[in-house]
Amino acid sequence: MMSYVSLDTQGLKQFVHDNELGEMQAMVNAADDELRNGTGAGADFRDWLHLPTEYDKEEFARIKQAAKKIQADSEILVVIGIGGSYLGAQMAIDFLHNTFYQAQKAADRQYPLVVFAGNSLSSTYVHDLLELIGDKDFSINIVSKSGTTTEPSIAFRILKKKLIAKYGEDEANKRIYATTDKAKGALKTEADAHGYESFVIPDGVGGRYSVLCPVGLLPIAASGADIDKLMAGAAQAEKDFADADLSKNEAYQYAAYRNILYRKGYETELLENYEPNMRMFAEWWKQLAGESEGKDQKGIYPSSANFTTDLHSLGQYIQEGRRFLMETVVKLDKPNHDVKIPTEPDNLDGLGYLEGKSMDYVNTKAYEAVVAAHTDGGVPVMTVHIPQEDEYTLGYLIYFFEVAMGISGYLNGINPFNQPGVEAYKTNMFGLLGKPGYEEVGKQLRTKMAKND
Ligand code: PA5
Repeated sequence: MMSYVSLDTQGLKQFVHDNELGEMQAMVNAADDELRNGTGAGADFRDWLHLPTEYDKEEFARIKQAAKKIQADSEILVVIGIGGSYLGAQMAIDFLHNTFYQAQKAADRQYPLVVFAGNSLSSTYVHDLLELIGDKDFSINIVSKSGTTTEPSIAFRILKKKLIAKYGEDEANKRIYATTDKAKGALKTEADAHGYESFVIPDGVGGRYSVLCPVGLLPIAASGADIDKLMAGAAQAEKDFADADLSKNEAYQYAAYRNILYRKGYETELLENYEPNMRMFAEWWKQLAGESEGKDQKGIYPSSANFTTDLHSLGQYIQEGRRFLMETVVKLDKPNHDVKIPTEPDNLDGLGYLEGKSMDYVNTKAYEAVVAAHTDGGVPVMTVHIPQEDEYTLGYLIYFFEVAMGISGYLNGINPFNQPGVEAYKTNMFGLLGKPGYEEVGKQLRTKMAKND
């Protein structure tokens, strides 16, 4: 039986023999045991597995109330966070709303404009954001599990200053929503001291697995999307992808196939879309895959391509470059709006043969042509078909990839739920910036840099 979001492996025929999937079953069973029963590394970070059904219902209701308040009193919601603390919310909002929602007039958009900050150290970005806000009404959702990450902390200080200048301290405190750890970190301390409305990132949910907890849910709800439907889709996926039997579980099949291909030398996976509003989805997926699997000097390198745009740039490399690529397409089967190609009497542009056809018809033919060309060129292709773009589908799709990455990581013998490598640059940066406690790191780095000059 095909699941609601289905995996199509026609594009693997030349690359994977029929027996190979079944031969992964024993390893998949072991990976499933590690994931479901907590016998693997990183067992403390598996609470996302049951998040679609076992979430805090009282907090969920508070999220909806907070979203209503933001919708009533703010033209802009600034979501401050980095990595797992913003990617899920941004990809969901892009996926679920009008492509040009950023440019819509407030009255047409109906809901606040959700913008993101604290995901870089660019001062131009913050300057331009302050200009965009101008004297408009706004609120802030600061999201940080550790509560101490540099990029969001700096952006928060700057935006908070603007908020206080506009509303005074008491009203500003009512417009700040803090999503953080239940007990630890500087943000938690500050939220308690100022009485910000707070939401909890559960202990057992890492950043890249956090979109279905308050991290993603508050901004998504504030943007006017239906978070009940989002959770309902994810809950269905939780049910559909619980059986370790590969013949019944397409998320596990995806995990198994990408590992089969990885072992044959296909070391880079491109996540592809044919819809510009899914570009951020690929960014979210890259963090999920890259932070889960890139460790112990191994792992599939996750990358992305946006089609048909990139067929006119990366397409040449994919077709004929070095052979180490595999592709996973997320293909939308039915767009929410399908535009027809109009008739033109003189046919000077030569498009007469497409008159009356829909753009999506052409998009789908492009996809079919690309799969045929790339597989002929030596690139294995998998497709994840999604029936439509809505909250239910997105919730289902999120869970599909989350559970697949958990299994995939265990199949490759690593801990899919830690991210020790993310600390290396932070330690060096603190050393160079002179953060108390990092003086020695700074000294050693400066000596090393002077030698290299
Ligand atoms: O997945 C991760 O753990 C990281 O990418 C974090 O999401 C990112 O570093 C932000 O961390 P925090 O939420 O603690 O500010």
